[in-house]
Amino acid sequence: MIDRAATDFEAVHGARPSGVWAAPGRVNLIGEHTDYNDGFVLPIALPHTTRVTARRRADGRVRLHSTQGDGTITDLALDGLAPGVVTSWAAYPAGVFWALAEAGHEIGGADLSVDSDVPAGAGLSSSAALECATAAALNDLYGLGLSAPDLALVAQRAENAFVGVPCGVMDQMASACCTDGAALLLDTRTLERRHVPLDLESAGFRLLVIDTRVKHDLGDGAYAALRAGCERAADLLGLAALRDLPAAGLTAALERLPGELAPLVRHVVTENRRVAEAIEHLDGGRIAALGPVLTAGHASLRDDFRVSCPETDLAVEAAVAAGALGARMTGGGFGGSVIALVAAADVAAVTDAVRSAFGSAGFAAPVAFTAVPSAGARRLA
Ligand code: GLA
Repeated sequence: MIDRAATDFEAVHGARPSGVWAAPGRVNLIGEHTDYNDGFVLPIALPHTTRVTARRRADGRVRLHSTQGDGTITDLALDGLAPGVVTSWAAYPAGVFWALAEAGHEIGGADLSVDSDVPAGAGLSSSAALECATAAALNDLYGLGLSAPDLALVAQRAENAFVGVPCGVMDQMASACCTDGAALLLDTRTLERRHVPLDLESAGFRLLVIDTRVKHDLGDGAYAALRAGCERAADLLGLAALRDLPAAGLTAALERLPGELAPLVRHVVTENRRVAEAIEHLDGGRIAALGPVLTAGHASLRDDFRVSCPETDLAVEAAVAAGALGARMTGGGFGGSVIALVAAADVAAVTDAVRSAFGSAGFAAPVAFTAVPSAGARRLA
């Protein structure tokens, strides 16, 4: 794979690359729409990665090529980069160059070739994977000495300010910081984190990921509106962020809020509690007990936060009815993917049940795969 990447790079850019870097997509186990409320999240990195093959350029040009693209090279001047200038897929890597330069890091131009097997638009953080792989490449090419969380923050800055999506920090932290065999418990306020061992396979379980093929797009305004609603609620409650509302104060707080904001707050507060519950179960070796926590999280996203859709609801229902221990949509919502915790022996039956439910409902066939907790951004060669 690495030899092919180098050969392809040379064919496109006319020179040998200096290295190959990879960063993964993610699924979040629990803790959804909590990151921009300073709350807690528990993602794992997927085995699927985006690879960036790269070399420095001395002339300040940023030349970007994608194996998944139409063969053209996007050729930009580093000192001409500004939000709004690039609108294609190239905005993600270009945004990382911009964010590093804006933060005062001494970088120059580079040739990049990108290849990825992270499904795009499936709620599996293909954009964070692309940003983090680019950040890891530039970190090494220009000897910046940035840590994994530093790279995640640069990647998030690129997405927020250059691409224009007001996402939280979960996806980039997951892509940059996750480790093999563990979920990442992250406090998104302090960035304090713990790698929580998660060996589903030895315990006889599998994590099934079901891409509903309903394209999710966080740039369309709904995500920004939800984030703004949460921030307004925190403001009205006199809190820095909804993370600061303890579960014991929830009922009283809900009475003080306008009707449209109360369910958002209920979701965020109960979801932070579900992350804590999930951790208690994992620390206690009770993997099966995670199931009901996942399903309760889905109900909250469906009924209170209202970011599910008929396809994700049906995938959850069909999976649970066919024996999954629990299931929920994962990521931002409005389509995207569902995760299901399933006994190893039931993977085929649950997958078939979801496929057949989708067929009966007239929905496009979903794509399902099992995932193990995998490594974060790294240099491959
Ligand atoms: C998207 C965003 C994340 C997070 C999730 C919801 O994936 O990029 O920052 O807000 O939605 O949990």
